[in-house]
Amino acid sequence: MFSSRMKRLNPYIPGEQPQDRKYLKLNTNENPYPPSPRIEEFLKEFDIGKLRLYSDPLSVRLREKIAQKYEVKKEQIFISNGSDEALSFCFYAFFDSTHGPLLFPEFTYSFYPVYCDFYGIAYERIPLDNQFSVNVEAFLKRPKSCGIIFANPNAPTGICLPIENVRELLENYPRENVVLIDEAYIDFGGESAVRLIQDFKNLLIVMTFSKGMSLAGLRLGYVIGHEDLIDALFTVKDSFNSYPADMLSQSIGEISISDDAYYRTIREKVISTRDYFGLELEKLGWHVLPSKANFLYAEKKGVPGKEIYLTLKERGILVRHFDIAGIEDFVRITVGTRDDMSRFIEEVKELY
Ligand SMILES: Cc1ncc(COP(=O)(O)O)c(C=O)c1O
Repeated sequence: MFSSRMKRLNPYIPGEQPQDRKYLKLNTNENPYPPSPRIEEFLKEFDIGKLRLYSDPLSVRLREKIAQKYEVKKEQIFISNGSDEALSFCFYAFFDSTHGPLLFPEFTYSFYPVYCDFYGIAYERIPLDNQFSVNVEAFLKRPKSCGIIFANPNAPTGICLPIENVRELLENYPRENVVLIDEAYIDFGGESAVRLIQDFKNLLIVMTFSKGMSLAGLRLGYVIGHEDLIDALFTVKDSFNSYPADMLSQSIGEISISDDAYYRTIREKVISTRDYFGLELEKLGWHVLPSKANFLYAEKKGVPGKEIYLTLKERGILVRHFDIAGIEDFVRITVGTRDDMSRFIEEVKELY
């Protein structure tokens, strides 16, 4: 009954979305603030009769809006159902183990090895440096590979590779291989590599509406890059699902891109809460990695990460723990509102 392909699958495990009780949910890096208030007005007035029709398979208006924001052409933008789908299409389109393994950091978004297994792509994990940063030199030392992917800021560390280092990597890496940068968390203080796209035709940037735009439930992502690479993604999409972004998502995406002032305000709130929260944790003796994302990766020496995760869960606070050698003592804590983080601090003060 089951295909041999299916039996070999080793799926990604999403963060818990428990329904059993009310938690302070700091485990899946959702934004604590609501999305643009303009969306509510739009939804109230939306003509439901329109849902009879298919959505625009090319997402033209949304791509135009995004293109305007980044000062590129709409032909350089691809829209997907969440950035996970965009990543999956990129893996299919650009990475091929006959040319060597795909390279990604030792600790990074755990969906990357899942896509590799799904599409049969060999991969190699490149160790982080001793500060937990992506190590450009180590990537460049690998003799043969079919491409590179890393998240910037990286997950789960939150550390952002400065743009000069991204440029150094691109300058010294073969131009015939794609370098894919997953900027899911770029809105929280990191510098985007989008401006390098004009210089590097092998560079693709994957973005999401889930984090900075507070629309994780909508499922909308996009890719920016050279027209030829974007064209390839359309070919993959049209061989899989012609309408990845529904009509409501496309319109809500357009509205969100246009409401920069609102999003800037909530992003600044997240950033200032993150910085306050990090300092408070450090005062309590925690080791906190320097984050440019909407989460902190932190450890309390002498207390296993799993224990922190389980104890906090009992107290109604959810964080994320990865049981992986080398980072097993850390927990990843999403930045919520100031009140959320004050409550967190009060709880851990009692505990450790
Ligand atoms: C590094 C990274 N990339 C991509 C995603 C996927 O985001 P989405 O599919 O919601 O756009 C996530 C989700 O948490 C992430 O952490």
